[in-house]
Amino acid sequence: MTTEPIDSTLQEHRLFPPRPASELGFARWHVGSLDEYHKLHRRSLDDPEGFWASEAGYLSWFRRWDKVLDWTPPDARWFLGGTINACFNCADRHVQAGHGDEVALVWEAEPIGPQTSHPAPGSAYANEPEVRRLTYRDLQVETSKVANVLKRLGVKKGDVVTIYMPMVPELAIAILACARLGAVHSVIFGGFAPHAISERVLDADSRVIITADGGYRRGDIVPLQQNVEEAVRSLANPTHGGGAHIVNHVLVLRRTGRQPPSKRFHTGHAPDTLPGSATRFHWWHEIEALVSDACPCEPMDAEDMLFLLYTSGSTGKPKGIVHTTGGYLTYVNTTCRLTFNMIPDAGQLFWCSADLGWITGHSYVLYGPLMNRVPTLMYEGAPNFPTLDGGKGDRFWDIIARHRVTQFYTAPTAIRTFMKWGDELPARHDLSSLRILGTVGEPINPEAWIWYHATIGKGQCPVVDTYWQTETGGHVCTPLPGATPAKPGSCTLPMPGIDAAVVNEQGEELPPNQGGLFVIRRPWPGMLRGVHANRERFVSNYWSRVQDPRSGEPYYFSADGARRDPDGYFWIQGRIDDVIKVSGHLLGTMEVESALVSHPMVAEAAVVGMPHDIKGSAICAFVTLKSKWFTENPGNQPGDDLRKELAAHVAREVGALARPDQVRFADGLPKTRSGKIMRRLLRDVAAGVEKITQDTTTLEDFSVVAKLRADEE
Ligand code: PRX
Repeated sequence: MTTEPIDSTLQEHRLFPPRPASELGFARWHVGSLDEYHKLHRRSLDDPEGFWASEAGYLSWFRRWDKVLDWTPPDARWFLGGTINACFNCADRHVQAGHGDEVALVWEAEPIGPQTSHPAPGSAYANEPEVRRLTYRDLQVETSKVANVLKRLGVKKGDVVTIYMPMVPELAIAILACARLGAVHSVIFGGFAPHAISERVLDADSRVIITADGGYRRGDIVPLQQNVEEAVRSLANPTHGGGAHIVNHVLVLRRTGRQPPSKRFHTGHAPDTLPGSATRFHWWHEIEALVSDACPCEPMDAEDMLFLLYTSGSTGKPKGIVHTTGGYLTYVNTTCRLTFNMIPDAGQLFWCSADLGWITGHSYVLYGPLMNRVPTLMYEGAPNFPTLDGGKGDRFWDIIARHRVTQFYTAPTAIRTFMKWGDELPARHDLSSLRILGTVGEPINPEAWIWYHATIGKGQCPVVDTYWQTETGGHVCTPLPGATPAKPGSCTLPMPGIDAAVVNEQGEELPPNQGGLFVIRRPWPGMLRGVHANRERFVSNYWSRVQDPRSGEPYYFSADGARRDPDGYFWIQGRIDDVIKVSGHLLGTMEVESALVSHPMVAEAAVVGMPHDIKGSAICAFVTLKSKWFTENPGNQPGDDLRKELAAHVAREVGALARPDQVRFADGLPKTRSGKIMRRLLRDVAAGVEKITQDTTTLEDFSVVAKLRADEE
């Protein structure tokens, strides 16, 4: 196996072989050697239907499928004729099997202080955070109640329920309650702004929203309900084009009790509407008191939609990625079991630090561990609350030590932050319970990988660098902890069942170390089934770029560039479309540009990513101003005030994660003769270190460089 560094940027070329399961406190590895992995992978591709049928057999079906796969490219239908329910597989099944009293979900609140009620032994903090433990039976009962609440609000099988909540157990309950009754959940990350909510609610034609009066984040309260009110109001009274969209009901969880809601609440008696709309607001606890705690799980067709999850694309409008029930559950169950070596009753406690608003939260905070009957930990807040000197924090290490977390899964951007905060913070805590470490969301730089392995894993824990996407439902390439020798920076080898390749534009597989397009050549159960209400986008984004050079069958195109090394290991090189990964979160450059041009002073904007030590990429926005600004500010040049205002405007319009790190004024944007903005040039300018520190007030003149480059683009 080669250990030569191939990228000139990669200085790390050690190989980290897997270790015997017993050395890590596991009874066994599900896949215990590289040879075993290769055999499994081979078998899964030689007989995909046989392989996936046996994997689907891990779940509990109401009716077994008649046919494993119907593949009419680009449309795959899995487990045809089978019926299944996601909530049943996460809760009821375990209750029926006698595990009702076992802990399913451990939740820790962010606030630390006397107002919390459940002391946690061994905490490093003077006051204890609140901890709640929910059993499988609790989940069964609570999801039944909420499903009954939703029914009372008129929600029926197939309706889309929007969920915009903090990381509290009720968020998990709300999601599973939708699944229980067969409603489609569409979760919106709590960091998004009102405009992002209304956009998604409208696209999904959703009439019911579940939210909270607020959520805790780094000691502050995020005004979730207020954001929903604003979104609901703007939907009811659209300012430009389109008719009104009325959200019928908003269900509000009381989480903080600190921010008095702007209106009285409706409990099912007299309607109480938000001024300017017909929307009724209900307190979760009031309406829940009116319903029964029994609700059967709806048998869903394997191909019925389980959820919609919006992700950024290269146009301004987010895409509603469609995942269906049977295939998604099968894929997530398998990948979660294999990647994290999940074994029930083995004292495991799995912690994935992602928010449930992202696919990582859906698949690996919620569905994966619950189906595998391994308890899952959910933490409400920030890694640096309480905040230590210099903005640092050791909350994650405190949580791992106190709860005895066995598998920990987080993002490279978080790891780089922890690295910056220094080794003394993890050193204060007992991290000896950890067995496997995972990363997700963006390429991990070898330095961060090594730090994670050495400082958090004490050189003992395998690190699994999992490559996948919202669209893939679950891990696509990842080391398996007992089988795959790891190379820092590589997501290594494909999951069983995944026929991944690096190809050129003609669909031909490329020789080792040649960069090309990352594709998947055959369907897999967790793949997206569509882009909601946009067939064209589904076909053109994912299935139109490359095809099998012989049969002409389309390949799934990920929009990532990659190369394979001589051992067949994949090295993801990043997105080749107009989306940027900022702290592991996908952002469309167009989304940010649209937000900028909605500012009254902005004529035109171009947004590119620039390298950033912690975030991976940060946003740099080039902005040209309307002449109005110069008329109103005679003799002045735009400066820091306007820069800050524009950055804040983007944060208000899209959400804080879209706030540009840099706003640069230009007197015109460099364009090709055909009028296309020369992003490559702007990326070079943004990455040019010396330019970034100077040149803060004058307008940039791209004319010279633009002319030089015009023919290249
Ligand atoms: O560019 C890849 C990057 O994240 C993109 C998918 O983003 P999203 O749909 O938000 O899902 C994130 C969680 C799965 C991919 O196209 N990406 C994700 N994981 C990795 C990665 N890039 C390199 N290595 C990874 N492990």
